[in-house]
Amino acid sequence: MAILQTIELKRYFGDTRAVDNVNLSVNEGEFVSLVGPNGAGKTSLINVITAHLKAGSGKILFQGRDITDLSVTERVRLGIARSFQLVNVFDDLSAFDNVALAIFSREGKTAHLSALAHRDHAVIAEADDILSQFGLAAKRDDNARDLSQGERKLLDVALAYALKPKLLFLDEPTSGVSTRNKAAIMDTIASVVRGRGITAVIVEHDMDVVFKYSDRIVVMAQGTVMAQGTPDEIRSNEQVAMALLGTSGPAAFDQHSLPQSGPQKG
Ligand SMILES: Nc1ncnc2c1ncn2[C@@H]1O[C@H](COP(=O)(O)OP(=O)(O)OP(=O)(O)O)[C@@H](O)[C@H]1O
Ligand SMILES: [Mg+2]
Repeated sequence: MAILQTIELKRYFGDTRAVDNVNLSVNEGEFVSLVGPNGAGKTSLINVITAHLKAGSGKILFQGRDITDLSVTERVRLGIARSFQLVNVFDDLSAFDNVALAIFSREGKTAHLSALAHRDHAVIAEADDILSQFGLAAKRDDNARDLSQGERKLLDVALAYALKPKLLFLDEPTSGVSTRNKAAIMDTIASVVRGRGITAVIVEHDMDVVFKYSDRIVVMAQGTVMAQGTPDEIRSNEQVAMALLGTSGPAAFDQHSLPQSGPQKG
């Protein structure tokens, strides 16, 4: 059953068709990768679905309900959360305080009450549980700015997870970290997400990662969905190889790695 459906969704910026007639369907419990060249419209599509950008036209259905006109907060309340291509953590707060704040915001308590988090046993227990699920327990009291890039990316995902989403969008959760650390981050994310039955849509440029973790892959180019399928189907799709790698032929994906979009990009 589809948890999310977009119907002829569009968002243009002047002449740029960032999201151009996208009909996307995501099934409950799926782990979907959203891939495509720089500028394909991946972040814009997530922004429109999460209400960080207004749709130009089209509809968004979540669990069958039309959410096109709902605000960010209303969509979060329904169970849609996202992390950002650029991390969105509070640098001057500890890892614990970042998570506690996210829990507080989910509960509708105001941010300036965050000092009380240290006295709220339920929040303390939940925040520590989330930190440990994301492998950050030892960093609990470190300021976010002092974490490694990989730890900051995990903390950012943990903040979205703390909103208790049913549907979680992760925009390049491994960007700016080394290939070796990517695997550790993805193992952590996949185990938390799958363990909790959360539906996930993840933007990732590294096709080794994409093929390894995805149930299904959606390929965007120039604002449209140009292909979708299982990892095996996408691996053998020559048009996709051409669009992503600029080359095709058997085993094209085994011989090329994609250019990474750097952490400075928005
Ligand atoms: N706020 C904006 N104003 C104007 N143009 C924008 C804006 N946001 C995105 N665009 C344009 O829309 C297109 C899609 O951009 P988007 O960031 O969604 O791509 P992306 O697939 O996420 O790329 P990347 O892999 O580099 O993150 C690009 O041409 C981009 O320049
Ligand atoms: Mg992007």
